[in-house]
Amino acid sequence: MNKSLSHTHRSESPSFGGVGEAAYHIPVLFSESLDALQIKPNGVYVDCTFGGGGHSRGILEKLGKNGKLIAFDQDADAQKNLPDDERVIFIPQNFMHLQRFLRLHKYPQVDGVLADLGVSSHQFDEAARGFSIRFDGPLDMRMDKRSEKTAALILKNYTEQELLGIFSNYGEVSNSKTLAKHIVESRNHSSLDTIAAFKNMIAPVVKGNPNKYLAQVFQALRIEVNDEMGVLKSLLEQLPEVLKPGGRAAIITFHSLEDRLVKNFFKLGSFEAQEEHPLFNTTKQSPFKVITKKPVVSSEKELKTNSRSRSAKLRVAEKM
Ligand SMILES: C[S@@+](CC[C@H](N)C(=O)[O-])C[C@H]1O[C@@H](n2cnc3c(N)ncnc32)[C@H](O)[C@@H]1O
Repeated sequence: MNKSLSHTHRSESPSFGGVGEAAYHIPVLFSESLDALQIKPNGVYVDCTFGGGGHSRGILEKLGKNGKLIAFDQDADAQKNLPDDERVIFIPQNFMHLQRFLRLHKYPQVDGVLADLGVSSHQFDEAARGFSIRFDGPLDMRMDKRSEKTAALILKNYTEQELLGIFSNYGEVSNSKTLAKHIVESRNHSSLDTIAAFKNMIAPVVKGNPNKYLAQVFQALRIEVNDEMGVLKSLLEQLPEVLKPGGRAAIITFHSLEDRLVKNFFKLGSFEAQEEHPLFNTTKQSPFKVITKKPVVSSEKELKTNSRSRSAKLRVAEKM
């Protein structure tokens, strides 16, 4: 049983923390992450997760007219938030292709990279996207609608063992084994196309608080649909080459599996602690100086006004 997922799912709260209903997304740890990037007016910065563009707007405010912001988002919806600003290059792709697109745009190295991981409030709040337990809709959960793998497809095709792995590793679902077995036994004679149908199917095995249980199941599926751990690893591995010496990476995570990856990678330059050779120093040196020994979390004020900030953790590193 994976005990590490101490900070689970971004809140499923329908509220925008007191801000108007039309808000696409309220940026979390806004000033903390912008301060961490130490933005130079003529620098080149990457926002890997443009979303509602909140962090990007903060970066643009600190950039001079010769500065550049390269923003990624794999969700076509995010493009409607793009400012009319010639300093911005928008790349409608997964940030796992960071280095490739930076080279393509002739910015092989940059001064800072920001990633605010996970799903936006907009994605949660659009019933048709299938991310939220609050609505009925298709069992979809793709951030990038060009990709083929939906949550329904996973539930229909993965083996019992694969489903068990997802629910226990990514959702910390207490009875993952029972749930995976139940899905495999039921899926040939029940529909899995909508959230309501899925909830109905698993109702007999829901344990404890149903909302908490379903949120954990949905989080696990979402992480798998979007390969969130895989793309984060890929992003981290590209940072040493993509950042200029002295350049900074600021990464905001929302659950402990992600946070552990970021923490280890910044500290060790790899994802796992390496064993030292008894005679030779064979351990890889981290290419980073860790700026945040402990993760930065939201202030009391932010927690009060934006419930979605409560599991956010910011880690910052500087390329040496
Ligand atoms: C938490 S929101 C970011 C919000 C943004 N910082 C703001 O201030 O509005 C995450 C956004 O990143 C996008 N995203 C998540 N993972 C991505 C990936 N691997 N590649 C590209 N975009 C991604 C999502 O589609 C979503 O719009």
